[in-house]
Amino acid sequence: MKRALKLGIAALLAACGSMPAVEHHFASEADLLEIQAVLKRDLRVRGSATLARLDADAVQQACNLNGNAPPEPLVKTLEAQQMAAINFPAGSLIGDWKRGESIAQSGRGMQWNDGPKDVAGGSCYNCHQLAPQEASYGTLGPSLLGFGKLRGNSAETQKYAYGRIYNSKAYNLCSQMPRLGHSGTLDEQQIKDLVALLLDPDSPVNK
Ligand code: HEC
Repeated sequence: MKRALKLGIAALLAACGSMPAVEHHFASEADLLEIQAVLKRDLRVRGSATLARLDADAVQQACNLNGNAPPEPLVKTLEAQQMAAINFPAGSLIGDWKRGESIAQSGRGMQWNDGPKDVAGGSCYNCHQLAPQEASYGTLGPSLLGFGKLRGNSAETQKYAYGRIYNSKAYNLCSQMPRLGHSGTLDEQQIKDLVALLLDPDSPVNK
């Protein structure tokens, strides 16, 4: 039971998407099923936190069962499926960086104390440095300071930034970054505003 509990905590952390999964930990399928049963038994639906999120999809399953390093052919197949499911809008993908900054700051969304009408944020600062004015940021992800200055804002770079935010697992299957568009947490305009925060030459990220 102690072991199952430990695994359960690891699965919970991985499921919440904002903490690093415990590495070098190979759970068996039976362990995962046991954990899911315990979580489903004990957790309650509250606000925007539903139990549907306890069901791992094919990507999470592949990463969970293989210590975040599934066999290469499976990685390729699943990444291609994730990529094909990204809804890239036509035209410019650069929105308003000022709105993007508040979305990047906001950690709201899909939590038990969020109502159905509350607007979700991107929690970007939880894991990344962005605008230099913000002194508090996490370091699980790489610093994105100067991102547009380094990469420019060509159509190709816009598409990369949009796709990364929409679904990072299309680029790196076991990426720790949450699938913000794929999960419906952020909408098209919010993702464009975040692309602007990353790529607009006027954004503080690129000053
Ligand atoms: C839970 C942590 C986490 C959160 C939250 C998060 N990211 Fe990431 N992000 C990462 C990690 C880790 C990587 C590194 C590469 C990977 O996982 O593939 C990454 C990679 C990226 C990249 C690609 C960087 C490159 O050099 O190509 C971009 C762009 C990015 N994140 C933007 C964002 C934005 C914008 C947000 C907010 C909407 C965000 N991230 C939220 C963890 C996070």
